[in-house]
Amino acid sequence: MTLQEFKTLCAQIEREYTDKISSAADLNAVEELRVAALGRKGALTELLKNLKDFAIEDKKAAGPLGNALKTALTAALENKTRTLAAQALNEQLNQVDLDLTLPARPVPAGRRHPLSIAQKRMTDILSKLGFTWAEGPWVEDEKHNFDMLNIPLHHPARDAQDTFFVQTGSPLSMVLRTHTSNVQSRFMEKHKPPLRIMAPGRVFRNDSLDATHSPVFHQIEGLYVDKNVNMADLKRDLTAFMKGLLGDKTEIRFRPSFFPFTEPSAEVDVKCVFCAGKGCNICKGTGWIEMLGSGVVHPNVLKNCGIDPEVYSGYAFGMGVERLAMMMMNINDIRTFYENDLRILNQF
Ligand code: PHE
Repeated sequence: MTLQEFKTLCAQIEREYTDKISSAADLNAVEELRVAALGRKGALTELLKNLKDFAIEDKKAAGPLGNALKTALTAALENKTRTLAAQALNEQLNQVDLDLTLPARPVPAGRRHPLSIAQKRMTDILSKLGFTWAEGPWVEDEKHNFDMLNIPLHHPARDAQDTFFVQTGSPLSMVLRTHTSNVQSRFMEKHKPPLRIMAPGRVFRNDSLDATHSPVFHQIEGLYVDKNVNMADLKRDLTAFMKGLLGDKTEIRFRPSFFPFTEPSAEVDVKCVFCAGKGCNICKGTGWIEMLGSGVVHPNVLKNCGIDPEVYSGYAFGMGVERLAMMMMNINDIRTFYENDLRILNQF
């Protein structure tokens, strides 16, 4: 075979197979063409066998020609395969009654409840201050809700007017916990200092529902016990907490108060965010809003939990989540949180 004949045959094969490939009807036909052109006995394969008889100069000219043709046919076969596969898919899709241009159905996304948002913001800040999560039961015995917290038997808080009593089979007198302070006695009974916990949760009081009261609400308890913990630590941490929650300009004040389980005790007020301290309905003209109770843990409480008050001391605080949430979110009626009106919930 001469070089010229080789070239002519190459051109013929190219023409023939390019045509056939482009008009192939299906994937089987493409495969047959691949075998016919490039298979072991294929047209191009057979043609290339002639190369070995060529003189070296002719080989240099014919070799690349043959290789280029092989590459071109391979590419043409692959292209055709892809086109046919796409066509097959389109046909399949056309058979189903499917309109891909239709807008997607909206997926109704859930969201956090404003109280959960508020609680999370508070616990996030407390955890940065080193507090770890703790929990206690809602249905509690009087021992953990009252006695161990140094609340005497005839204290008014234990009255049925304030407390829900629960009938259980238990020989202990049970109540719905009136504060998260039950977690103080529960936790210190089991764990010894140093300890620093926050205990968020639901609490229950026999109050009727109005704009500022609810029989079910939420508190977050804080408790820090170690050597030499004092009122100054409390003041520092609560100041940091309130600024973190309500902004750097937030002002707070400590007002002497009384709780059986802390001595000394203080209530913490925040300068009213609604009127910037000028006095309005919400702060009842005082310019301050009461936010939480706190104090230095009473030595009797430590003793009741088996902790030596000569060695250890601590502070505790309990704050109302609803109160703070109302401040943060500009909500002026506590009932808003429980009515589950989607027009309101969707705003947070
Ligand atoms: N338990 C108190 C209340 O519910 C708040 C409090 C907690 C006060 C811890 C002092 C220390 O009102």
